[in-house]
Amino acid sequence: MDIVKETENYVKLKLLGEGSGHDWWHVKRVYDNSLMLLKHDMNQNVNERVVKLGALLHDIADWKFNHGDEKAGPRAARKWLESQNVAQDDVNHVCQIIYDLSFKGGKSRSPMKTIEGEIVQDADRLDAIGAIGIARAFAYGGYKGQELYNPLILPKENQTVAEYKSQQTTTINHFFEKLLLLKDRMNTRPAKEIAMKRQRFMIDFLDAFLKENQAEDSWHAARLDRYKAMDR
Ligand code: ADP
Ligand code: NI
Repeated sequence: MDIVKETENYVKLKLLGEGSGHDWWHVKRVYDNSLMLLKHDMNQNVNERVVKLGALLHDIADWKFNHGDEKAGPRAARKWLESQNVAQDDVNHVCQIIYDLSFKGGKSRSPMKTIEGEIVQDADRLDAIGAIGIARAFAYGGYKGQELYNPLILPKENQTVAEYKSQQTTTINHFFEKLLLLKDRMNTRPAKEIAMKRQRFMIDFLDAFLKENQAEDSWHAARLDRYKAMDR
């Protein structure tokens, strides 16, 4: 069987039913997003197999669930790919993508080193915004036992890596700390275009959420107004 198909089966078996938003269906969406971005980048010399393997393996072992170990993902991917006799250059490339991929707070922009990495990064980021992004954020917040929203806790924007990993936050704050920033960090043109639409949807959602809350909270509303203004 072909290595992409083999890898799909391996990842599916490992992640099916995972409950924090890193389940197989997240991986499938990232894979499909990657194929869509690949189609738009046809004039570039892109290693499609590396993109596909990177997308399938990108969440195989997350540092958040491995005692903060950022090498757990690349290590697990390497073990799998080497067991399948994938060429060493491709193994190294895929593992580099997985390592560089995770966004770790506002100060760290996680630049990718290759176009293949940029495509997988965009594909993963697209799944963190819009309607799916909203659903995943609240799923993750529930999994962590975090508050939906607390008008007294303000987001920490521009966090260092250490702060991002350790901070208690609310799910609404996660939008201001990360999700609303992703639109301007897309690498490829088609991802930028999709992100603009999804940004609007998130802004509308946050607007309705804050209005329904009727809380004394000028901070979140004022910050959202800035995003609304940027969106016009
Ligand atoms: P990805 O799988 O896209 O690399 P992460 O592993 O950082 O992203 O997070 C998985 C999902 O959980 C994403 O949709 C992200 O927005 C969400 N998430 C991460 N941290 C938080 C948080 N503190 N509060 C709410 N949602 C979060
Ligand atoms: Ni992911």
